[in-house]
Amino acid sequence: MKRRARTLLRRLSWRRRLGTIGAFLALAAIGGFVYAWAGLAPISARSGHWSATAWFLHFAMRQGVETRAAVSVAKPEDVDVADPALALRGAPHFAGGCAPCHGAPGQARSAIARAMTPQPPRLESRIPDWSDEELFWIVQNGIKFSAMPAWPAEHREDEVWSMVAFLRRLPGMTPAEWSRLAGLEEAAPAPVREAALAPGGPEAPGGGTRLRRLVDPPIGEILAESCVRCHGADGLGRGEGAFPKLAGQKEAYLHASLRAYARDARQSGFMRPVAVGLTDAQMRGLAEYYAGLPAGPAGAPVSDAGARALGERVATIGVPERGVPACASCHGPETSPWYPLISGQDERYLALQLEAWRDGDRGGTVFAQVMRMAAERLTDAEIAAVSAWYAAQGAPMRR
Ligand code: HEC
Ligand code: HEC
Ligand code: HEC
Repeated sequence: MKRRARTLLRRLSWRRRLGTIGAFLALAAIGGFVYAWAGLAPISARSGHWSATAWFLHFAMRQGVETRAAVSVAKPEDVDVADPALALRGAPHFAGGCAPCHGAPGQARSAIARAMTPQPPRLESRIPDWSDEELFWIVQNGIKFSAMPAWPAEHREDEVWSMVAFLRRLPGMTPAEWSRLAGLEEAAPAPVREAALAPGGPEAPGGGTRLRRLVDPPIGEILAESCVRCHGADGLGRGEGAFPKLAGQKEAYLHASLRAYARDARQSGFMRPVAVGLTDAQMRGLAEYYAGLPAGPAGAPVSDAGARALGERVATIGVPERGVPACASCHGPETSPWYPLISGQDERYLALQLEAWRDGDRGGTVFAQVMRMAAERLTDAEIAAVSAWYAAQGAPMRR
């Protein structure tokens, strides 16, 4: 009897204690709400954070990134962050999309970035603190309650890995190397320079009308400030296969692709920020410019005879047993102006696009659906072989 009374009492006192804690928490919540409701929470970015708040936020960010990266990020086997082509692919975007906040070798952070709370840190000394997977997670997802943005295209993990490859090279990078990688020294296209000197003057490819089109609307400036940093003034993608070749491509396809990026019908975190800023007249002018440039030389011949034969068979006959039509039936100089030329295009770029279609991640123009059906039925070996085969072909003559 006595023992039962004692346990009852003990239970009661526990209840009482729990009740007190509950009441305290409820009061704190109400207090917090009243504090916010009355407009007393410190929201000015000018004052910065108290050092305790800054420490806690950074701690929470670190732990959050570590846990999420460990659970959700696996580096694909074919990604090598030491690959120079990957770093080259990330660098020009860093110049436009990251350096204004984080600075770059020899380049300060913008005054606007320095007025943010938390202030975007310079990254050189921070990169070694993070693993590749953690950097991937940060760049892919961004960081809430700070200005750090998510990657502009949700399903382009290959692009995010290029950025990680660039970040890995950032510590110790000299200003000269930075400026070369980011394409800051890519010269303005020759016809643009000529047009600036003598509008309608010396014959550029396409003649006098082309020169006038380049200065009005101001296509030359857009080329010089944006496109050439990645695609080069010659439209050949700066070697190494980091960027697709645009020179000599069909004009209608180039124009339609720019529109597709702007509408997000074709996803790319590199191209979308560029394309959304263009008017339709500018897109037409840019498409005309690149279509009029001479196509580049053919890539290296395919050395493996078996792969060469397979590539040629897929291109010219298709894979009849799986319902894949011959690639050449659509991809050639005489077909629809919206069907791109792929002869002489970079091998890695071709394979990347085919894989993206197979994974359901490559959109495109309104004609892209037919391409998706072809790509979905290709094996890895066929994708590799047909990409290498097309890259090794000389670009066909048009017109
Ligand atoms: C509008 C400004 C802004 C832009 C643009 C921006 N960031 Fe950030 N970034 C931040 C801020 C602010 C933080 C700090 C977040 C924190 O500490 O919670 C940050 C943090 C980071 C970190 C973690 C650094 C560390 O150790 O604290 C990395 C890595 C990073 N950014 C990479 C990038 C890359 C790559 C890009 C371009 C694709 C980019 N950022 C674009 C503002 C920006
Ligand atoms: C920061 C680098 C960067 C800049 C700047 C850039 N591009 Fe691109 N561009 C790329 C990359 C990377 C791709 C391939 C994207 C993909 O996988 O879809 C691409 C693809 C394209 C394509 C599609 C090519 C094809 O064969 O389907 C066109 C057209 C294009 N860019 C035009 C332009 C024009 C015009 C400009 C200037 C206004 C420009 N780009 C600026 C990186 C860039
Ligand atoms: C029925 C017509 C058709 C057939 C057959 C076809 N394609 Fe395409 N392909 C297209 C169209 C249309 C596009 C442009 C898609 C877009 O971005 O809107 C395209 C785009 C591509 C691209 C992307 C080019 C770039 O610059 O981004 C590659 C690579 C490609 N095709 C490879 C192939 C291969 C390899 C085959 C054969 C297995 C093939 N295609 C068969 C119509 C076709």
